[in-house]
Amino acid sequence: MTDSNKSGRAVFAGKFAAVATTVGSAVGLGNIWRFPYEAGEHGGGAFLLCYIVFALLIGVPVLTSEFIMGRCARSNVSEAYAVNGGGNRWRGIGHLGIITSLLILGFYAVVAGWTAEYFINSLTGQADFSSEKNLHSQFLYFTSGWRPLVWTLLFSLINFLILARGVTKGIERMSNVLMPLLFLLLVIFCIHSIFLPGFNDGVEFLFKPDFSKITPKVLLGALGQAFFSLSLGVGCMMTYASYFSDSTRLGRTAVTTMLLDSTVAIMSGLIIFPAVFSYGLSPSAGPTLVFEVLPNIFSRMSGGMIWSTLFFLLLLLASLTSTVSMSEISISYFSEAKRLDRKGATMLSCGIALLLSTLCALSFWGLSEVKIFGMTFFDLFDYVSSNIFMPIGGIASSLFVGWVMDRKAVAIQLSNGHERTATAAMMRALVFFLRWICPVAIFIIFLDSVGLLRF
Ligand code: TRP
Repeated sequence: MTDSNKSGRAVFAGKFAAVATTVGSAVGLGNIWRFPYEAGEHGGGAFLLCYIVFALLIGVPVLTSEFIMGRCARSNVSEAYAVNGGGNRWRGIGHLGIITSLLILGFYAVVAGWTAEYFINSLTGQADFSSEKNLHSQFLYFTSGWRPLVWTLLFSLINFLILARGVTKGIERMSNVLMPLLFLLLVIFCIHSIFLPGFNDGVEFLFKPDFSKITPKVLLGALGQAFFSLSLGVGCMMTYASYFSDSTRLGRTAVTTMLLDSTVAIMSGLIIFPAVFSYGLSPSAGPTLVFEVLPNIFSRMSGGMIWSTLFFLLLLLASLTSTVSMSEISISYFSEAKRLDRKGATMLSCGIALLLSTLCALSFWGLSEVKIFGMTFFDLFDYVSSNIFMPIGGIASSLFVGWVMDRKAVAIQLSNGHERTATAAMMRALVFFLRWICPVAIFIIFLDSVGLLRF
């Protein structure tokens, strides 16, 4: 197998790699940290149902649109809009994606750093996870100090080292090893969950939708979660698809990615909710659910520190495959558009990300009083990327593939050049969704999230 095509650009070598890398990007803090607290706050089953419907009906078409653009152009996100028929006018959307990916990386690496602290504390048995109150003050004490900054730096360094090894030796190899390991860890946790006294209550909470709980707010939360979890709207999947081989089936890969990504979200729900109900805690603790409630649960289990160590290791590895994918967006841009070599481009992109992460880590300590639009850097980066820039990117790639890109080129990407009747039907459905359903649905959440529409 070669690891580059005629132009010298990297191509993922193995058949497994397209799925391993995209699932590696999709599965991260979004599934294991964000999904359970969102589901916990928004009524469990009702949220899960909406999330699955959106991931399937909006997530899969938008993901396919990014795959089509990326593999057709075989270049970075800015170039992908330009060469697929958009000309220079569309480059701005690509640049916005690059900026957004760096902003997301800024706060994401900080949360990954928190995970590293909890991993090390569990491993060394230093932590006292025995009471909820204690855990809350521990979390506050820890985040408002210098340690998160150090962990963020270390995490970013590992991220850099993997990326500097390149697309096939770094990204592909890491994903091929870490993703199966991650699934194995998840399965072990799920089996363990079955034996908890609160298993039935947890399962009921997660799977039994109470339709009266489906409010506009739940719908919007679910769509936002589907977007974040599938790494959509910033050109991340576009960049990875530019490394897919010509034989990778794009539609099928999009569906597989969505199914595996949702499976991981459901599995982490199955791990967390039975434990929450077993010990009479509240599922709606919010963003600190994983850091404040879970350690408490671990401390009451037999062999709890081992479970805790494994859990935070799992979260750490999942974050790493995601931060690598976010960084690759700007690395491919810097190396192609700015003609830097791989090391230089990696250094530049990781350097910018580190600067932004430092601002985010300090948002809880030295810079906690610095507010822009009433938000700290951490909250600001999270807010503008998730609520404004990602929806814009999602609408853009849908409209682009639906209306602007040459239909023949889209069909060739979708069918890998073989005309089949099944592809013709798939093509019609895809174009219909990308022209109408996806942009309109995303636009509605966008309006709501910036406060222009209030239900
Ligand atoms: N999807 C990842 C998660 O669930 C996060 C992620 C990776 C991401 N790349 C992205 C989010 C690009 C938005 C855009 O944790």
